[in-house]
This record gives sequence, structure tokens and C-alpha cells, in this order.
Amino acid sequence: MVLLGNPDTMVNVCFVCLGNICRSPTAEAVFRALVEREGLTDRFHIESAGTSGYHLGAAPDRRSAATARARGIHLAGHAQQFTAEDFERFDHVLAMDGSNLEELLARAPDAAARAKVALLRSFDPTASPGADVPDPYYGGPRGFEDVLEICERACAGLLVALRTQHGL
Ligand code: 4NP
Repeated sequence: MVLLGNPDTMVNVCFVCLGNICRSPTAEAVFRALVEREGLTDRFHIESAGTSGYHLGAAPDRRSAATARARGIHLAGHAQQFTAEDFERFDHVLAMDGSNLEELLARAPDAAARAKVALLRSFDPTASPGADVPDPYYGGPRGFEDVLEICERACAGLLVALRTQHGL
């Protein structure tokens, strides 16, 4: 188990998709850039993970990395699978789509763990209730642009909400 920062001072956030190579690494990097811009780097621990282990250890998808790079955002890390233990490690678990959400809720050991899980787009002011970050994996380049733009809007909303919730 990786020890995170002091739980009294750090807010531990994990973004979760299916493969942890497209959407959740994008959300992780976008959120990290926003946190850095607001001078809050030492207050957040940020990771991403997949509900599946399909791509364990793989680098982010080249198409996601290129789309992010064009906007000055670097996708880092290697795919990892979200585990039951992660419900203890993280304060907030942001699912990219409804399928990820259902999977996480089914794996959550108790009500406290379930309360940590939300759809990322519930923080996107332009999204309808229940909206997904659409899976871009089998589509064309526009899907990757859409993911990036959605993550920028939703992560900005998420940061406002977490700053309020945690008094940051
Ligand atoms: P992600 O995209 O969940 O955003 O990382 C996908 C990556 C791989 C697969 C599906 C979605 N796959 O089926 O291998």
C-alpha cells in the first residue's frame, strides 16, 4: 500500500475509467495542472486508475498524450487497477462514465466508500445529470479532443467544489 500525505492536510483524489490509458490519465493531468496553477500542489494527492486490468503497466494512449501535449499538458504514469484498498486511500473517487460508476459502487465495501464515488461530469456545469466522459478508444481524433475539453470543464468545477468542501 502506498502511503499518501498527511490525511489531515491532503485531499486524496482518484480518477477512474475502464483502461486507465485514455480518460482517467487525461483527467488526472488536467486536474493536476489546475491545482498547480492555484498553488495547491501540496494539498492534493492525485492519481488515476482503471476498473479493468486490461492495460496494466501501460503508458497513456498515444492519441490521448498527443491531444494533451498540444495544450501543454503532460500525461504521466502507467496504468493501474483500482483496488478495494483504494477506497481507504482516497477521499474522492471520480468515475468517467456510468459503467465505471456502477462497477465502483458494486466494489465499495460500505456506505462510507460509496459516498466517495461520483461521476466526474457531475461537476461539469454544461452536462446533463448522469452524463459520461465518452470512451474515445475506438473512435477518431475528435473523441480525444472532446475528452480533453470535458475534463477541463469538469475538473475546474471539481476543484471549486473541493476547495469549498475542504476549506482550501
Ligand atoms: P479508457 O479507454 O477507459 O479511457 O482508458 C479505454 C481503453 C482501453 C479499452 C477501452 C477503453 N479497451 O477496451 O481496451
